[in-house]
Amino acid sequence: MRVGVFGTGVVGQTLAAKITELGHEVMVGTRDVEAAMARTEPGPAGGQAFSEWAAQHSDVKVGTFAEAAAHGEVLFNATNGQGSIPALEMAGAGNLGGKVLVDVSNPLDFSGGMPPSLFVANTDSLAEQIQRAFPDARVVNSLNTVNANLMVDPGQTAGGEHTVFVSGDDQSAKDEVTRILRDWFGWKHVIDLGDITSARGPEMYIALWLRLWLGLGTSMATIKVVT
Ligand SMILES: NC(=O)c1ccc[n+]([C@@H]2O[C@H](COP(=O)([O-])OP(=O)(O)OC[C@H]3O[C@@H](n4cnc5c(N)ncnc54)[C@H](OP(=O)(O)O)[C@@H]3O)[C@@H](O)[C@H]2O)c1
Repeated sequence: MRVGVFGTGVVGQTLAAKITELGHEVMVGTRDVEAAMARTEPGPAGGQAFSEWAAQHSDVKVGTFAEAAAHGEVLFNATNGQGSIPALEMAGAGNLGGKVLVDVSNPLDFSGGMPPSLFVANTDSLAEQIQRAFPDARVVNSLNTVNANLMVDPGQTAGGEHTVFVSGDDQSAKDEVTRILRDWFGWKHVIDLGDITSARGPEMYIALWLRLWLGLGTSMATIKVVT
């Protein structure tokens, strides 16, 4: 399958590397290919300097957001929350139409320092803003409750099996993403929370996740739903 991954940070790198390893044809999207390939420092959340990562993953194509969007049959949005709608505008509504868009972004606002606040919450969410801005994209919010490594390898927690969520208006898109989570990444517990408004919960959970990360000193905190 051809997959477009928007984002050159640690999430984009991790998703692209794993999906390529599985044998799919991946293109990572960025605002400016030349600038990304010249980057010698990792992004704010870690990962590798993009130039170094790209050199080690020469089987992954790198293009503009529009080129990655045109390339992908399935798309992942792993861009900075404040840059997500601008990035998707650059990708082009025509390139997103009819495609499953797995939205991994969180609406973090770092302007007030650490920990970040959310620039949208409670009565709206970034996932909803994206779905409203691109009504023909089949947006499924998922994976944004765990760190990048757990997204593609959920089995590495010391605490055992845990849960990931899908939110979206298009049931067949959620079914497709659930299959991807299970078959590509190894998630055993996927809960369908409902329509795209249900993405508010996972996005607001990040406020707790940030405190767990700061308090426990680990980014591996995750959710296990028991009833
Ligand atoms: N880090 C994690 O473990 C984790 C876990 C869960 C969810 N998330 C969420 O996943 C997303 C990606 O996180 P990350 O740490 O990998 O990367 P990031 O640093 O948050 O985002 C990097 C990407 O955002 C793009 N970008 C930044 N500002 C932009 C703007 N104004 N317009 C268009 N594009 C812009 C960058 O484009 P260029 O390539 O052109 O620089 C780059 O591709 C975020 O929304 C984050 O909250 C992260």
